[in-house]
Amino acid sequence: MGLLFFVRFWTLSGGVAGGPARESLRMPGAEEAKRAVGYAAVDRFVRDGSCIGLGTGTTARWAIERVGQRVAGGERIVAVATSVTTEVLCSALGIPLAAFGSSEIEVAIDGADEVAADWSLTKGAGGAMFREKAVALAARTFVVIVTPEKLVDKLGAFPTPVEVVPFSAGAVAAAIEASYPGVRVRRRGADSPFVTDNGNAILDCAFGPIDDAVALDASLRTIHGIVATGLFAPSLTGVVLVADPDGVREL
Ligand code: 5RP
Repeated sequence: MGLLFFVRFWTLSGGVAGGPARESLRMPGAEEAKRAVGYAAVDRFVRDGSCIGLGTGTTARWAIERVGQRVAGGERIVAVATSVTTEVLCSALGIPLAAFGSSEIEVAIDGADEVAADWSLTKGAGGAMFREKAVALAARTFVVIVTPEKLVDKLGAFPTPVEVVPFSAGAVAAAIEASYPGVRVRRRGADSPFVTDNGNAILDCAFGPIDDAVALDASLRTIHGIVATGLFAPSLTGVVLVADPDGVREL
């Protein structure tokens, strides 16, 4: 119970010290909206007997809770977790875990920091985007669950998280600033550097409005030292569920 409380506090408090600010968490009703969309994703897309991918963050954790309720009710669902935090929460709720690559993932459910009109995404406020992208790429259907303020015309108001090998962090930051004039790059958790589940660092890069997320992701990944970016191609997104005041809407 103590462990579950800790995980809940961690996720409710925004997850990561030093990550970009999450104003929506303080809005009244925001948690109810996240719960509604998290529950709806599980109720609409998760079948008994399936292997699913479970995301990371304050919205995904409601989907995890719903899966926990279904497993407690006797359903045989197994999950691939996208982070150590999600793994811990699944274990606390009795959700059996599967190793990534061991079974086909029928559906993956995860939050996002921004959803553009073309369905490209920014992810990684929690620093889990490498595993989140691996699971989304492997899943037959990727269901994105968000509250309405995450819907944007173009990505870029939210800084793009870039996961880098720590040895190369300074050199990669300099290379990004040289290649994209005007872009501000900040190492996450500057005084007490953030470390991902893969042992890497995160650079938060303020590119401004992004016209082509696929092209930017591809060009960033040519810089030696970059492991993954938080830019998700529109082709990955299968379904977007949005928690509106009058219910959960599928875009
Ligand atoms: C973590 C993520 C999260 O899915 C994203 O940050 C959304 O989180 P939240 O639902 O807490 O706003 O990408 O790496």
